[in-house]
Amino acid sequence: MEKHSRIFIAGHRGLVGSALHRGLERRAYTNLLLRTHAQLDLTDAVAVRAFFEREKPEFVFLAAAKVGGILANETYPADFIRENLEIQTNVIDASYRNGVKRLLFLGSSCIYPKLAPQPMKEEYLLTGPLEPTNRAYALAKIAGIEMCWSYNRQFGTRYLAAMPTNLYGPGDNFDLQGSHVLPALMRKVVEAKLANERKLAVWGTGKPRREFLYSDDLAQACIHLLSLPESTFDGMILRDEAPLVNIGTGMDVTIRELAELIAKVLDFDCEIVFDTTRPDGTPQKLLDVSRIHSLGWKATTTLEEGIRLTYEDARTQLESAVR
Ligand SMILES: NC(=O)c1ccc[n+]([C@@H]2O[C@H](COP(=O)([O-])OP(=O)(O)OC[C@H]3O[C@@H](n4cnc5c(N)ncnc54)[C@H](OP(=O)(O)O)[C@@H]3O)[C@@H](O)[C@H]2O)c1
Repeated sequence: MEKHSRIFIAGHRGLVGSALHRGLERRAYTNLLLRTHAQLDLTDAVAVRAFFEREKPEFVFLAAAKVGGILANETYPADFIRENLEIQTNVIDASYRNGVKRLLFLGSSCIYPKLAPQPMKEEYLLTGPLEPTNRAYALAKIAGIEMCWSYNRQFGTRYLAAMPTNLYGPGDNFDLQGSHVLPALMRKVVEAKLANERKLAVWGTGKPRREFLYSDDLAQACIHLLSLPESTFDGMILRDEAPLVNIGTGMDVTIRELAELIAKVLDFDCEIVFDTTRPDGTPQKLLDVSRIHSLGWKATTTLEEGIRLTYEDARTQLESAVR
């Protein structure tokens, strides 16, 4: 990827896409192709084809998706499978038809079986039943991986799929209905602080272990992957192995440790109270990151530093939302 290459970031206003946008600008890439959802609906095949024919991107980061928490996934499974299949099919096919050199498709660790051994290796894909609550979403993502792999085999394209662990960072979603555990806990701490409470209520026992990656670290990993030298990149595009790379820190923490760390960074001296009537979910979710490490990339932002940066970015928005 050259500094003047034509690079399309699909979904550049989302958590991942905005981190990619920052990361590419910081590295002085000058030819970024950006379209908001309102300017280009990626579920519209005709519009996507016209965009690719006109703009001729050379590299594509596919970070646009319909994304949501458990409640949204359970309520709208049809929307999750249809919109995601449409977005990725349109972008991957238009990329092939217009000679895109390299594409990176963003998936999620929910593609792995619910009871996969830990840490989860890329080869565990399709080795067992999925978590039912987001099966429709996960299957769309699995179809995206298969599509990259199939196009590589049939048409000689060079498309990779990256599977990030739980992400957090600037521009995160702090709405309690739709947010993930880290931003949800951050919001609860802000609420408790402003209400002058001394207790922080956390769902479950606090014992499940989870891995968290700062979004700018993920962006760095994605840029690293699409910039790999030809021979290394070719080593990822194999006929008999999915072109799949896990991206994470390789380290997990308990929910209790996470809550304590957020309280510490936000300077909130409190007692953490666990609501054990609420479900815990899987005991552990951790990615095996040997492959991305072997490709020369490691996460650099500590969880404490990432929480601090996320909070600094969101502080005003969070405080006005909870007042
Ligand atoms: N967040 C995580 O913890 C996490 C973890 C692992 C993997 N990932 C993966 O990373 C990718 C991006 O996730 P994210 O967290 O960045 O999601 P996000 O913040 O919701 O961003 C998704 C972006 O896609 C855009 N988009 C959605 N539908 C579109 C359409 N039909 N046409 C054009 N743009 C559309 C959205 O625009 P609007 O908002 O305007 O609709 C938004 O800018 C997803 O594939 C997800 O699976 C995320």
